Amino acid sequence: MSFSNFNNEIARLVIFQRIELAPPLLKKIRKFFGRYLFTNFFTKLFLNKNKINNAYYELMLQEYIFLDNLIDLNNKNILSIGSGMCGLELIIDKLNYGNQFSIIEKNYISKKIKYGWDDKNLEAYNNLNILKKFINDNKTKSIFTIYNFDKDTLPKNSFDKIISLYSLDYHYDFNLYKDYFKEICTNQTEIIFDTIRPEYFKSIFRYVDVISEHLNTIHSSKRIICKEFIL
Ligand SMILES: C[S@@+](CC[C@H](N)C(=O)[O-])C[C@H]1O[C@@H](n2cnc3c(N)ncnc32)[C@H](O)[C@@H]1O
Repeated sequence: MSFSNFNNEIARLVIFQRIELAPPLLKKIRKFFGRYLFTNFFTKLFLNKNKINNAYYELMLQEYIFLDNLIDLNNKNILSIGSGMCGLELIIDKLNYGNQFSIIEKNYISKKIKYGWDDKNLEAYNNLNILKKFINDNKTKSIFTIYNFDKDTLPKNSFDKIISLYSLDYHYDFNLYKDYFKEICTNQTEIIFDTIRPEYFKSIFRYVDVISEHLNTIHSSKRIICKEFIL
């Protein structure tokens, strides 16, 4: 299975967002020629969009199956932070009903993608025009609204779920969103994200559940579900 209208530009963004999908040759090139040439030159040449499309779909389906076993994904108001090309959200849309998605992302590609912890939150790998078209080409029934983190007023309604895979507190500090979350979360809102410091969140939320552990990623992390702010 795969996504519709998956072109070379989308394949390139997906590789930036999920470096594990880069073919081994491209990973070697990155090591040898450095991040700048990898980001701006080689990823424009050495990509097989069909293979990346299939692999991205499969990876997002696995993410979906994992989450769907833990939380109800029907009829929900879902906020996605740093959702990349929204592969997961599009699969949730396809296999469920009645959902509304608000997507917060950045609208640029860093000149030299480094990965890892980014104190200033300057790294980004998305293009919101391409994302908008990709969502419209692939969505089935949910409503999607995209927000540019750097320019737009963020949505102020409450959400049932907040999902941020390998973005919030994986690449940049959770505290960037903390005050905003306090405004939009109810005691029922479940926040799911990947972090390198799960213990820290026990002082912020009443409920913190570790749902998986990832040792082979850029830095080893745990995926957690948090609920009910106490701080
Ligand atoms: C490693 S990618 C993960 C993408 C997607 N969640 C996935 O699992 O495939 C991290 C994403 O976070 C985005 N990002 C970086 N800073 C952000 C911020 N402050 N708010 C929202 N998204 C951000 C980047 O543009 C990038 O698309």
